[in-house]
Amino acid sequence: DWNMHDFIEASVDTIRSQVGAAGRVICGLSGGVDSSVVAALLHRAIPDRLTCVLVDNGLLRHQEAENVQEVFEGHFGVDLRVVDAKRHFLDRLAGVTDPEKKRKIIGEVFIREFEKVAAEIEDAKFLAQGTLYPDVIESVSIRGPSATIKSHHNVGGLPEDLGFDLIEPLRELFKDEVRVLGRALGLPPHMVDRHPFPGPGLAVRILGEITEERLSILRQSDKIFIEALREENLYHEIWQAFAVLLPVKTVGVMGDQRTYEDTLVLRAVTSEDGMTADRANLSVEFLGRVSDRIINSVRGVNRVVYDVTSKPPGTIEWE
Ligand code: XMP
Repeated sequence: DWNMHDFIEASVDTIRSQVGAAGRVICGLSGGVDSSVVAALLHRAIPDRLTCVLVDNGLLRHQEAENVQEVFEGHFGVDLRVVDAKRHFLDRLAGVTDPEKKRKIIGEVFIREFEKVAAEIEDAKFLAQGTLYPDVIESVSIRGPSATIKSHHNVGGLPEDLGFDLIEPLRELFKDEVRVLGRALGLPPHMVDRHPFPGPGLAVRILGEITEERLSILRQSDKIFIEALREENLYHEIWQAFAVLLPVKTVGVMGDQRTYEDTLVLRAVTSEDGMTADRANLSVEFLGRVSDRIINSVRGVNRVVYDVTSKPPGTIEWE
């Protein structure tokens, strides 16, 4: 039986002895559960020698960077550097539509931005990563399910030769244990119980070209969907829910005007670990309310559809 308080104590000891008397630890934050829990654990162990880095790639959800800042700077008082790299990412992604190219570019730009800021942190010797047990298995397994189907990238997706010693305190944990740990460390529930979010962010949920305008459409729609799930107490019954913007225009009618706008997909799945997933049984009534809200308040979308594909044969994300 897993005893969380023993785990925290043991991890704190291990981190302190690994870090020793000198040197700072850099911890990349993404707004996701895993990196947040790593940062909170490091804060518990070595509060004065921790610097967190959030690379804002412009592909984050509504108010994500602000939320991370509020929790880690505001609440925990962590030394947090937010790198505004939105322009770099969006410039490099301009005109790119191929899913693997998008992932590759985002991975490259992320590493470059991360290296730049890391070089400015004095005495930085260690890099903390939110590698979980399933990531450890997946990277050594031959099947390597989705990792080989899509080139995964996350804050743990840095190359090994960055010149830092790695600290990976979650290597033996599963996602549900990470959540319990996060709560015990004082992270707010909205951060700990969040659905997983892919490293390449909204880029893999905008099919076709990524533009500021399309990012804005997707952010607003996604927020409406997630808020509705929370309001109707459905959020926690679901592994992951999000919106996907298609580069497909259809004809509609609004008032007495003809419209010709983009299609938005709602995706919601249940799952144990993300390796396989089932469509979530959301009622047509609920989906209809979400659709009405989105079409009435988000300019640029005039049709909403629900994805009923399970994994396999579909993957959870669309790219
Ligand atoms: P797929 O789409 O392969 O996704 O069924 C399985 C789970 O992994 C997440 N995902 C990612 N997570 N970096 C990540 O950190 C990535 O590049 C990435 N791609 C997919 C996805 O959101 C789902 O939870």
